[in-house]
Amino acid sequence: MIAVEGITKSFGTLKVLKGIDLRVKKGEIVSIVGPSGAGKTTLLQIMGTLDKADRGNIYINNENLSKLNDSKLSDFRNKNIGFVFQFHQLLPEFTAFENVMIPALIGKVKESQARLKAKELLDMLGLSDRMEHKPNELSGGEKQRVAVARALINNPSVILADEPSGSLDTENKEELHQLFFKLRDTLGQTFVIVTHDEHLASITDRTIHMKDGMIIESQSEVL
Ligand SMILES: Nc1ncnc2c1ncn2[C@@H]1O[C@H](COP(=O)(O)OP(=O)(O)O)[C@@H](O)[C@H]1O
Ligand SMILES: [Mg+2]
Repeated sequence: MIAVEGITKSFGTLKVLKGIDLRVKKGEIVSIVGPSGAGKTTLLQIMGTLDKADRGNIYINNENLSKLNDSKLSDFRNKNIGFVFQFHQLLPEFTAFENVMIPALIGKVKESQARLKAKELLDMLGLSDRMEHKPNELSGGEKQRVAVARALINNPSVILADEPSGSLDTENKEELHQLFFKLRDTLGQTFVIVTHDEHLASITDRTIHMKDGMIIESQSEVL
């Protein structure tokens, strides 16, 4: 479903990605681990079309993303890619409910339908009674769950998460990780998750180890 082929990226003279190949199947939960500076975030941003590679191709659902112009690309991103970041990045002046609805409205989904779907997701994520709260009235764990609901609203092909539990305490971390697996089981949702959490990495279907802009090890079987 996702194919990453020969991706390279430099910032000035710094080679950050040195030829990355990666495939992810539908419904798979893949973790990416590696030391700080390895290029994990850069790879995720390129997979999510938020940044462009110098070389190589990314295919999502057989669409070659390097062939799309900027406006087609933002449309593709809106419909196919959900993002969850370390710091929720919810809009502070909007309620949880509105934050979740925004990507649907940007995607020209009818407002009535966007409302229905946002409510359904917030219910599913155990946030029914937090919908009308703004981000600063929510706990860290709740904010991340709202961010997950927002990532899910357009039924994306994949959710890309960059250290999603990096700012959570142990209990909320565990709850968020369980949520990823629940979403895979109920919706067949595909995830690529950059993480420093060894336990999360150990329970994902596959862990990709990155170092110095390269994949140094990619293991598929649970040991
Ligand atoms: N926009 C940028 N401009 C210049 N250097 C960058 C930029 N983004 C990342 N880098 C550099 O690229 C390297 C890899 O960064 P990153 O992908 O964030 O690594 P990781 O997420 O694995 O910690 C680092 O040395 C970082 O400083
Ligand atoms: Mg990073």
